[in-house]
Amino acid sequence: MSPAAVDVIIAKREGRTLTTAEIDWFLSAYDRGEVAEEQMSALLMAVFFRGLDGAELRAWTARMIASGERLDLSGLSRPTVDKHSTGGVGDKISLILAPLVAACGAAVPQLSGRGLGHTGGTLDKLESIPGWRAQLTNDEVRHQLETVGAVVCAAGAGLAPIDRKLYALRDVTGTVESIPLISSSIMSKKIAEGTGALVLDVKVGRGAFMTDYARARELAATMVALGRDHGVRTIAQLTNMDTPLGVAVGNALEVIESVDVLRGGGPADVRELTVALARLMLEATGIDDDPAARLDDGSAYAAYRAMIAAQGGDPDAELHPAAQCTEVLAERAGVVTSVDARAVGVAAWRLGAGRARKEDAVSAGAGVRCLVRPGDVVAAGQPLVVLYADDAAHLGEGRTTIAGAVTLGDEAVTPAPLLYERLE
Ligand code: URA
Repeated sequence: MSPAAVDVIIAKREGRTLTTAEIDWFLSAYDRGEVAEEQMSALLMAVFFRGLDGAELRAWTARMIASGERLDLSGLSRPTVDKHSTGGVGDKISLILAPLVAACGAAVPQLSGRGLGHTGGTLDKLESIPGWRAQLTNDEVRHQLETVGAVVCAAGAGLAPIDRKLYALRDVTGTVESIPLISSSIMSKKIAEGTGALVLDVKVGRGAFMTDYARARELAATMVALGRDHGVRTIAQLTNMDTPLGVAVGNALEVIESVDVLRGGGPADVRELTVALARLMLEATGIDDDPAARLDDGSAYAAYRAMIAAQGGDPDAELHPAAQCTEVLAERAGVVTSVDARAVGVAAWRLGAGRARKEDAVSAGAGVRCLVRPGDVVAAGQPLVVLYADDAAHLGEGRTTIAGAVTLGDEAVTPAPLLYERLE
């Protein structure tokens, strides 16, 4: 006999451990429309306060995966490995990493989402390339993985579809920031995507979803365990997201910067993080290659061009920042003590690079170029950031938002490390 929804809610509310059968039933019944939205909301809130133990979380995630299809990538001639970032400002690493790791011999199925709020989305960035399309069929994904080795495309609606309903509900019930709910949401989609191995870039700091190190570490450990439980070799790398990554923040601006890195140049921090994550991805698949050499010898860039062209994009198209621009100047001489990633991310969003609601359009050329980093010595009147927007109104909004994002002091500053711990 099926349990009554209210009994499952009360059990969790009282801190009791739910059985796999109860979790299976509750989520399936919700998916079928037999458990009401208010009952699911109540269970989410109970989970928010009481948590889920390892077995509960396994069952919860397995049920989310089973709500849709699971891509079968087992027939490919290359080992598959993906990367997921919990989201940061200026985080264009996927654009570089997928072709780089393909150039090293793996297949990278990067099934991605769009940006919301102050962190940008990989698909929005690539859509600034004329002709490039994000929607591929499963057969096209498989074919491109076999021929090019890298796909960055929209995650199909068939992967863990219950996550969309649950996420929308969490968004309006104050239950987003729950480690088991975040972990199951991210990992159900990644496991359903069919990747054999996964590297998680779990960001910590002002511009990240998690500002507290201990919570970010707990999230990383929870996702690693879920990956392992589902047969996906998973490694997590905790990384610093106090300062934006690289110089560019905004869609076309980030594509331009990614191409610089793919051609062996670009900002040192973007290259450092890309190479570090690529090494973990190769380790997870057992491939012995040097990703830094693939950036320098042109093979990563060749893979990028093939990946863009395979999805209808013109890799030779010139991308431009938006027409209106303004600089923010240093009010005095000093040492840069911080460049607040969140403030820069929100400014890029207000300039038009991001969206507040899923349906909003984004500007390709809007964004911010951060010309200084913590530790840099600046003179009075020196440009600190450049803002780009399509019109004066957006430019004004960005200018207001970015005020105070770069702070100056008088003492020398040692920049914080980019890479923290790795967990597996
Ligand atoms: N990203 C997801 O996909 N799900 C979450 O719950 C949080 C971030």
